Amino acid sequence: MRVILDCDPGVDDTFALIWLTAAAHAGAHELECVTTTAGNVDADQCAKNAAWILSLCGLPIIPLAAGTPAPLEVDLTTTPETHGETGLGYATAPERHIEHDWEALWIDAIERGTDDLHLIVTGPATNLAVFAHAHPEHFARLKHITVMGGAVNYPGNTTPSAEWNFWVDPHAAADVFAMMPTPITLCSLGVTEQMLLTPERLEGVVAKLGSAPIAEQLEAITRFYFEFHDDVGEGYQAQIHDLLTVLIALGAVEHEHRVTTIDVEANSDLTRGTSVADLRGIWEREPNCRLVTNADIDAAWDAFAWACSIHARIAAGDVALEELRHLRADD
Ligand code: BDR
Ligand code: CA
Repeated sequence: MRVILDCDPGVDDTFALIWLTAAAHAGAHELECVTTTAGNVDADQCAKNAAWILSLCGLPIIPLAAGTPAPLEVDLTTTPETHGETGLGYATAPERHIEHDWEALWIDAIERGTDDLHLIVTGPATNLAVFAHAHPEHFARLKHITVMGGAVNYPGNTTPSAEWNFWVDPHAAADVFAMMPTPITLCSLGVTEQMLLTPERLEGVVAKLGSAPIAEQLEAITRFYFEFHDDVGEGYQAQIHDLLTVLIALGAVEHEHRVTTIDVEANSDLTRGTSVADLRGIWEREPNCRLVTNADIDAAWDAFAWACSIHARIAAGDVALEELRHLRADD
């Protein structure tokens, strides 16, 4: 698959980038471009973070642009208490120039074909909604979209009923499901909260990364996120939503889904960002969602371990370019 990653790094977005860059190195998937949304931090800071992670993962040449600076209708709220002031916990990405023509990157990828193009959104759905309104013909050509967001019949993590990405830009989330020509794969909290990183597992991950440059930063990036989860009563561990979302999107882990219709509440203060699934077909509307209902979490961590070993082997210089093209998830 060719992949557009639209993200807001973000600690768990960083783990998604670590896997995607390894998959790109191995020739398992092609990373077309990375664009950012305003969410965990502002869109420009997210882009600086993404650029740094790409570079630490050996792919500084991936086209990258910052996206829409604010949600469609509400003010931007960021979350320094969850991902730190920089968005990368206790780490800080270097300053750099950031491009902003993200729409051109999406259009370029779409014009190269959409049968094998997967758009994965791991931040608020702002860019996707803006794109749907501004470029309806290109939007209509997208065949594979996966979104991390929502809490479907499940407690929210931002309000009692709303998940963060949908809460930040509820109008965008609502528009995307209303306008989508083909069902969106939705990875919501009920599944993504199962992707739990413990300090012990992080130690193993860092060891597995060997001398890869990302290994030196990962503890500082993640420790803040552990502390946040501890502060809110989840224990000293972390939910790695966005990594699981990317693995599900690209079929790297077994998962089950249910086809349904989703709507998102945008205009109520009480239930802003709440996602509602019409599981009984009461609305009699066309399905617009493949709601992921469970995933093989052990397989997901195995897939991530594979990615870490790719990065380690590249850093150690023990893998020839030709050989890399043949490294696949089952190697
Ligand atoms: C989502 O919110 C963000 O803080 C995470 O990066 C993830 O995409 C989980 O609710
Ligand atoms: Ca995110």
